[in-house]
Amino acid sequence: METNQTSSRKQDHIELAFLSQTACIDSRFYYEPLLSAHPEATVIPQKTIANKALQLPLWVSSMTGGTLQAGVINRNLAMACNEFGMGMGLGSCRIILKDATYFEDFNVRQYLGNELPFFANLGIAQIEELLALNQIPLLVDLIKRLDADGLIVHVNPLQEWLQPEGDRIKFAPIDTIKRLIDKIDCKIIVKEVGQGFGPKSFVELLQLPIEAIEFGAHGGTNFATLELLRQPDYIKELLTPITKIGHTAIEMVDFANLAVNQLGDKALCRNLIISGGVKDFLDGYYLIQKANTNAVYAQASAFLKHATGDYETLRNYCELQKKGLQTCYSYLSIKS
Ligand SMILES: Cc1cc2nc3c(=O)[nH]c(=O)nc-3n(C[C@H](O)[C@H](O)[C@H](O)COP(=O)(O)O)c2cc1C
Repeated sequence: METNQTSSRKQDHIELAFLSQTACIDSRFYYEPLLSAHPEATVIPQKTIANKALQLPLWVSSMTGGTLQAGVINRNLAMACNEFGMGMGLGSCRIILKDATYFEDFNVRQYLGNELPFFANLGIAQIEELLALNQIPLLVDLIKRLDADGLIVHVNPLQEWLQPEGDRIKFAPIDTIKRLIDKIDCKIIVKEVGQGFGPKSFVELLQLPIEAIEFGAHGGTNFATLELLRQPDYIKELLTPITKIGHTAIEMVDFANLAVNQLGDKALCRNLIISGGVKDFLDGYYLIQKANTNAVYAQASAFLKHATGDYETLRNYCELQKKGLQTCYSYLSIKS
């Protein structure tokens, strides 16, 4: 039996050799095959967000709620977090702030377990509105009902501007975030949704007593583009150039490193969730290693692709990321 298997494998090798000529190389890493055995699970270092340990340095970026599929997607994602030790941000909870109809789509703490970070999510425009109406207690109540560890505030002026029914932001988001911090006693993460943050935004954000900055960088799902896709052709044509502005995750890691250096002890936020166009574990590993501060990487669309059906599909996807990361931590170091 074993002889047959070996023989068939050798035949495969002959047939596939011509198809497997390497055309390009990923030159971001040094590869050291001599220095490690095949990895154990423990090769991946534990990271912490919100004082909770992650078994994988991986975060499920905020996505969905309030649609037909959302409950299934969020439950699958929460179960995967539980099994693989990842953190999770919910999609915008605006729809359940004042109405309980879709609450169960978001109510996934029970699947995730208490030992992992789990965050609610709301847009900066809604935070402005809640502050103006003295309704922050509604938010506090929501975080409590969801049993979340805190709140992610998404800052998305470009998306709102490109959305015909979009909200208009009346104050600089940084001021709104500062006012929120004064009014609420919970952990806060601030993120973009596909354009990222420039260097001055980083300097401002890092000085706030927030739990983490999530990049929402340019290069993956882009909500400015997504909003334009919903509009007539002539608008699409005129406004598409503005969707191309922003910052990639690699560029943003540089901004963060520079700002942390400049700020020294004034940098109160020490955690980065690197998201936006992180295609795979190699990208994720590279970005984490490049960051000079505690960092995990995050994906939205890549998880979504595997989370809409049965749990097994998502499980296989996570298992492969885990194996990939083990290999990275054993054999690869980054060049710069
Ligand atoms: C279907 C979908 C829904 C999203 N909804 C939200 C949201 O409600 N709140 C938010 O902060 N970000 C939202 N995002 C943005 C993601 O959290 C993430 O910042 C962005 O998709 C970039 O990550 P990616 O390139 O890995 O997809 C959503 C993304 C997707 C794909």
